[in-house]
Amino acid sequence: IAESDQFCDAGIGIDKSTCGITSSSKLLIKGGTVVNAHHQEVADVYVEDGIIVAVKPNIKVGDDVAVLDATGKYVMPGGIDPHTHLAFEFMGTETVDDFFTGQAAALAGGTTMHIDFVIPVNGSLSAGFESYEKKAKKSCMDYGFHMAITKWDEVVAQEMEIMVKEKGINSFKFFLAYKGALMISDELLLQGLKKCKSLGALAMVHAENGDAVFEGQERMIELGITGPEGHALSRPAVLEGEATSRAIRLASFVNTPLYVVHVMSIDAMEEIAKARKAGQKVIGEPVVSGLVLDESGLWDPDFVTAAKYVMSPPIRPSGHDKALQAALSTGVLQLVGTDHCVFNSTQKSIGIDDFRKIPNGVNGIEERMHLVWNTMVESGQISVRDYVRITSTECARIFNIYPKKGAILAGSDADIIILNPNASFEISAKHHHSRTDTNVYEGKKGKGKVEVTISGGKIVWENNELKVIPGAGKYIEMPAFNYLFDGIYKADAQYLSSTRAPMKRFHSST
Ligand code: URP
Ligand code: ZN
Ligand code: ZN
Ligand code: ZN
Repeated sequence: IAESDQFCDAGIGIDKSTCGITSSSKLLIKGGTVVNAHHQEVADVYVEDGIIVAVKPNIKVGDDVAVLDATGKYVMPGGIDPHTHLAFEFMGTETVDDFFTGQAAALAGGTTMHIDFVIPVNGSLSAGFESYEKKAKKSCMDYGFHMAITKWDEVVAQEMEIMVKEKGINSFKFFLAYKGALMISDELLLQGLKKCKSLGALAMVHAENGDAVFEGQERMIELGITGPEGHALSRPAVLEGEATSRAIRLASFVNTPLYVVHVMSIDAMEEIAKARKAGQKVIGEPVVSGLVLDESGLWDPDFVTAAKYVMSPPIRPSGHDKALQAALSTGVLQLVGTDHCVFNSTQKSIGIDDFRKIPNGVNGIEERMHLVWNTMVESGQISVRDYVRITSTECARIFNIYPKKGAILAGSDADIIILNPNASFEISAKHHHSRTDTNVYEGKKGKGKVEVTISGGKIVWENNELKVIPGAGKYIEMPAFNYLFDGIYKADAQYLSSTRAPMKRFHSST
């Protein structure tokens, strides 16, 4: 395969000898503990032509079937990363991981599907979609798309409908930050929320007050603070809390479900907790960086080291990480993403004299499954079934592709991982598969290792070797009206019937 050789030769850590080789289309995974979000049992899993055919004990097969022994290990649905940016043009540059290298890294870490954010081209959704369709042609695993909304007019409203009804997009992201670039107004957010509701599409928000962030940045520059620490100081958690609260309340006003991406702070998490307690349909997505890191790296005296931690909202002071973990374990937050959006040291250095110019984003697509296992399961905070739920199943349910994805059931796609709870992992830019030259989790070690990744029924990661083929990944269309919309329209009907009759008011005559 010409294209795969091109990628092999790019020296991104993909074993040349194995490029382009596919494994048997029939596969038996024997003797592992098969874990779904709702149930776990010791069973065999039989796969044919990319689909799970049977899950039960003692499946007998012929000689033509490749057999993997999973005794003593967990057999789980491959991870689904709800939040990535591959081949993303942002802040004057483009992420170094594209749809091939980012996905190869994902597969090496046990993630078999991701949902990336299409950015419109000059506000045009269809042009944005076409551009991302092209970028994604080299995909080596399955993927879906969210779409950002960056301006508002009748054409955008019509295109949203086309995206939902014809293109398989069921979620739209609104940026309340990045003033002068992606940021939108409350007026646009309201229009967008209404349109999402009418289409059965999920509204997502990047929740930071962009006007106040702009003000905070000016303050830092006036004080002479130009380094990466200025990033944290200029956009404190209170601005994330404010925007999260505002978006939640506007979604309540419109009565439509809301998904808050990259919840980085206690402030934002508590707004979500409060709304959920009141019965509002709000989903909170923490990302791995927010769960396992604190802001101290931004104060590193070495610019390149400090700059690698720059993402928005910022990684918070110690304490927020533990609180977000607890919120995840109690169901206040529901699933984990990465916001994988990587720029190398040269790109980060664009902001050497001004933190406002450092391209925002950190890695995580390869590390998520290991770090969540170690931080949440190995530490005793959640069960293995909960692990499957927060890394895979809940994402599949929210984006309406369950149980095709997010489950090990007969009929589901054969996206499967085998995790050895007794093996260990260690993270380093020296051997990761992303194209970037740094890693925000450098040196982190822990228990639990993804030893095998199966994508579309093929073994793509085994014995620390990747066998990935550009073009093997499929676009997964995601239908509208996920479970969060259940009851939404009933609540509207009740509201209407209680308010429709105009009030009779008596006039006092003078
Ligand atoms: O810093 C970040 N998060 N970069 C990616 C864009 C976004 O806001 O998700
Ligand atoms: Zn090759
Ligand atoms: Zn964002
Ligand atoms: Zn993002």
